[in-house]
Amino acid sequence: MENTFEKDILEGLKAKNKYLSSKYFYDDNGSRIFQEIMQMPEYYLTDSEFEILSLQAKQIVEALEFEQPFNIIELGAGDGFKTFKLLEYLVNKDIPFNYVPIDISQEAITLLSEKLKERLPKLSIQPKVGDYFEILRETSEHKTPSLLLFLGSNIGNYSEEKARKLLRLFNDNMNINDKLLIGIDLKKNPIIIHNAYYDKAGVTKRFNLNLLIRINRELGADFKIDDFDFYCHYNPINGEVKSYIVSLKAQTVYIKDLNTSIGFKQNELIWTELSKKYTLSEIEDLSEQTNFSINKHFLDCKHYFTDSLWEKLA
Ligand code: AVI
Repeated sequence: MENTFEKDILEGLKAKNKYLSSKYFYDDNGSRIFQEIMQMPEYYLTDSEFEILSLQAKQIVEALEFEQPFNIIELGAGDGFKTFKLLEYLVNKDIPFNYVPIDISQEAITLLSEKLKERLPKLSIQPKVGDYFEILRETSEHKTPSLLLFLGSNIGNYSEEKARKLLRLFNDNMNINDKLLIGIDLKKNPIIIHNAYYDKAGVTKRFNLNLLIRINRELGADFKIDDFDFYCHYNPINGEVKSYIVSLKAQTVYIKDLNTSIGFKQNELIWTELSKKYTLSEIEDLSEQTNFSINKHFLDCKHYFTDSLWEKLA
């Protein structure tokens, strides 16, 4: 794990066009900053998905057509706040199911389990820490039908090619009657999207620069955080928000544990994140290309976001 981090950081910073993967944003501090982002009024994604799961839980559950007790397996559960409304609906209706939140962060899973046990004491919960696919493989060996949750537009952080790969892997690890509820941010007025990522208070900037702080701490680097800035850009044609760290001056950073110096030109960029937006018809294409059919799109009232219910094709 640690070695992969070192290898990826070195590869990204040595590249002609520098890049770092946004998956490394989420150390404990980064996860906390992400919670702040989710509470910003500009970051409409969380509110939109919360609205869908609050107001349409009944319709979503009916569309599953599961007759027996089933599993809800959440990939990247995080703080589970959005999912709470769906779980609450099922518990209140005495519908038998087992909730399996999966996350790579032990801290996130422990917090989530404690909060849920307190707020929904009747909930049957089996939290797991680790790799999605190993856990999915284990659960798909049982015959209990499963609803996979992949919420929050996490799919938008993958290039289309990588998203297809990931969705095919989900598909390979699902049984025929299992379903996938996937949260995807939709293309909309570009100004709204721009404001969600280029927030005035600079929370998203802190989220990005925290990665340099992490590299300083974990790899003994000497990034001077004030000598870097943040820039992001939404391209409404291809739906891509791309985020960057900008070097404000010509400078050299030494990374002790990698025994390497990295030179930056003034205004040189490090690409950190892709947050891709889709249209409903692009989502339909994506499902077809990955052996799924779409049962229904559940949209919020502003049509900013969809939680779409996908079925595995035979
Ligand atoms: C986790 N992910 C879906 C977020 C997004 O919108 O791409 C991460 C994020 N980056 C900046 N703001 C939020």
